[in-house]
Amino acid sequence: MKRVLLGLAAIALAVAVPLPATAAQTHPGQHGGRTPDNLRELSHKIKVYIGSAVAVTPLADEEDYRRTLNREFTHVTAENAMKWAEVEPQRGQYTWDGADAVVRNAQRNHQKVRGHTLVWHNQLPEWLTTGVADGSIDAAELRGILRDHIFKEAGRYRGKIRAWDVVNEVVDDEGNLRNSIWLEKLGPGYIADAFRWAHQADPHAKLYINDYNLEWNTAKINQTLNIVKDLKAKRVPIHGIGFQGHLGIQYDYPADFPTVMKQFTDLGLEAAITEADVRMVLPVTPEKLATQADYYKRMLDTCVDNRRCVEYTVWSFTDRHSWVPGWFEGEGAATIMDENLAPKPAYDALLTVRR
Ligand code: G3I
Repeated sequence: MKRVLLGLAAIALAVAVPLPATAAQTHPGQHGGRTPDNLRELSHKIKVYIGSAVAVTPLADEEDYRRTLNREFTHVTAENAMKWAEVEPQRGQYTWDGADAVVRNAQRNHQKVRGHTLVWHNQLPEWLTTGVADGSIDAAELRGILRDHIFKEAGRYRGKIRAWDVVNEVVDDEGNLRNSIWLEKLGPGYIADAFRWAHQADPHAKLYINDYNLEWNTAKINQTLNIVKDLKAKRVPIHGIGFQGHLGIQYDYPADFPTVMKQFTDLGLEAAITEADVRMVLPVTPEKLATQADYYKRMLDTCVDNRRCVEYTVWSFTDRHSWVPGWFEGEGAATIMDENLAPKPAYDALLTVRR
């Protein structure tokens, strides 16, 4: 009986989610073979989690969105639902429904979860930013508020989050520590504090530093490398580097991305591409879609070619729900499926990736 149960357990694990590849598990020269039917099958084949950002309203209200998400992806990130402004809009009053829905759906559909994000300068609740601005929240109280937030949120999802974006975008485009309420009031030590508190709250989760333009911005890359080295020297629990991967075809592809990723994984970190999308100046043309497909594929190739890269997440899988049109006037069509959830050339290009 025990042998039967062990056999069934092994089958269940095999169909659940792919284990990230390690050198021992990969089979160099695994090329060609039948094209996978979907991204979930590709994820199993290349042993990289393939994920998407999830918006809670279409998750609840759009059956085709939900069905596509659960068919295609082995990893999910709440696009907004886990951000501080969304979970604690009034001080001490928590609204977990959206985040709970993402986690519950993930558990039901064999998807791992990225927590996004514990400490950021954006989407902070107004009671917090106002309190700091008017001086009613001093540095000591702010540090306690940050600690409580991390323990509250990471503690709530303890054991249910594969990786947390513990700190997000803490380096500015000039390569300096970003001037935020955290740096101004708490000093640079807030970063180490955040990682230590997150690890205490959930020792199961991999803890990441996440940022945009890390694929190419040398000043930002160098400062982030320094932060990682300093944290590791202080034995602060940091496990991963998140490259957001927000690209545009009107710009050159960041050809040095593989080298940059290796600079971080050589420090012992795992890597993830956490928010991949490739926008374009409208209107859409077949030539623009072909370039977009190339950019998406090259990012996944970079992940597959680095054995420490374990996750490739797109920042929404459909143009029906993408942040880009609201933030970049005249640009859009940034995702791998159109508004009707029809695959675009980028989707098809991803299916051709091989380890
Ligand atoms: O939830 C409120 C709602 O109550 C209010 O009625 C409505 C109108 O003001 O706003 C809603 O909040 C919006 C939120 O998305 C949720 O929909 C915010 O205004 C809007 O600014 C916010 O935009 C998000 C953006 O981060 C904020 O910077 C985008 O959806 C989200 O895709 C984007 O994601 C970020 C990552 O978290 C970090 N990396 C960059 C990436 C793109 O900016």
